[in-house]
Amino acid sequence: MKIQSVKGTRDFYPPVMAVRNFILDGWKSASLRNGFEEYDGPIFEYLKMYQVKSGDEIVEQLFNFTDRGGRHLAIRPEITPTLARMVNQQINSLPRPIKWFSIPRLCRAERPQKGRLREFFQWNVDIIGSESILADAEVIYCTIDYLRSLGLTSKDIKAKISSRKLLAAFLLDIGIAADSLESLYPILDKKPKLPEDAFVEMLGKAVEDDGKADTIKKFMELSDISEIAGLFNPGEEAKAALQELSDLMDILGQMSVGDYCVFDPHIVRGLAYYTGIVFEIHDAANSLRAVAGGGRYDNLLGDFGGPKVSGTGMGMGDCVLEILLSEKGLLDGQLPTKNLDYFIACLDTDLQGAALELTAALRHAGFATDFSYKATGLKKQLKQASAANSAICVIIGTEYKEKSLFLVKDMKTSGQQLMTKEQVIQAAK
Ligand code: HAM
Repeated sequence: MKIQSVKGTRDFYPPVMAVRNFILDGWKSASLRNGFEEYDGPIFEYLKMYQVKSGDEIVEQLFNFTDRGGRHLAIRPEITPTLARMVNQQINSLPRPIKWFSIPRLCRAERPQKGRLREFFQWNVDIIGSESILADAEVIYCTIDYLRSLGLTSKDIKAKISSRKLLAAFLLDIGIAADSLESLYPILDKKPKLPEDAFVEMLGKAVEDDGKADTIKKFMELSDISEIAGLFNPGEEAKAALQELSDLMDILGQMSVGDYCVFDPHIVRGLAYYTGIVFEIHDAANSLRAVAGGGRYDNLLGDFGGPKVSGTGMGMGDCVLEILLSEKGLLDGQLPTKNLDYFIACLDTDLQGAALELTAALRHAGFATDFSYKATGLKKQLKQASAANSAICVIIGTEYKEKSLFLVKDMKTSGQQLMTKEQVIQAAK
């Protein structure tokens, strides 16, 4: 029986694993240099945790199961609910603001497509316990800081920023009922992904008044914050949200990433828990799905039985990022290959014992060392040494037989010299 991998999953053969490590190592160092501490949680949780506040879309994409004890569980599709649960548990002892990052492996039963799989890695940075717009700015800065460090410029990617607070105030100001906002957000979130007719039809079903539906569509198509005044008369809430957005843009400018950031009211976000600033990173050509997305959530901790503590954060998957980096040629020459310090070439089966002793001594001293299982010809073993990018090849042959000396060859310069075992180890140090 030939068993295949499951649709939407990946096998990480060494060259693919090298790309994954390159991305994940970069996430970790960007987090650390931006002052975040690492955390993790379990890979499955109670199903109801995702049904509380993540929104219908993610609930439809859950891999869920019932365990032998009859408990309804789900594999994590995101880590933000776990984070909220964990922080709630220690809320009184954690110094605030909490700045944490995590790199979980997640599963979503999505229809696999370019940049969207059923299993992926996602970098998360979150700041909890600060209502300051500085925290939102830091999350966006950290995200761009990482992408910029890879060589992506403001011509390659854009951070599209909006505000759920502004959207809510606008919708209320034009007379949309407060209790219909939550059901309206997922429709508005789909606008960039839908043909115009389909969006207008969906919006028309949700908002019966044609005039209001048209004003909403115009709001979504604004290209500059200043155009808002011409569309509706902002009340106090809307004015405060506008001020917040403008402060955020100023801070991001001061932090040197202003050229990456634009206001874009299309950004609503699919997840239900966002309440304030929301943002997504997109490739400038807009040909791929979002590279990252996040925003502020005021009520998530409270919804999980904790105090009303606000958080803000983002998630970035590895799939779209990998496509983007490879399209821009930014993975070329970046990926680590197998790199040995020493390769031990043994030319005579009788000398295998000496090869094993030297290999073990070098490994014990901390050097990446490998050897051939077969005493084949020198040419073949030198080939093996250079395929493994070994810096040095130690040859055990005639000189060892006659004088117990190793022939030590520098693979770069081809220079070689005879040494005793002690000298080889001494030189290695
Ligand atoms: P999200 O928008 O659902 O947000 O996902 C964030 C990012 O994860 C996406 O932009 C994409 O890069 C990646 N992603 C999502 N689904 C898939 C998939 N099926 N395959 C590959 N990549 C995927 C969240 O998950 C929020 N919890 C982020 C957050 C953290 N908000 C605040 N803190």
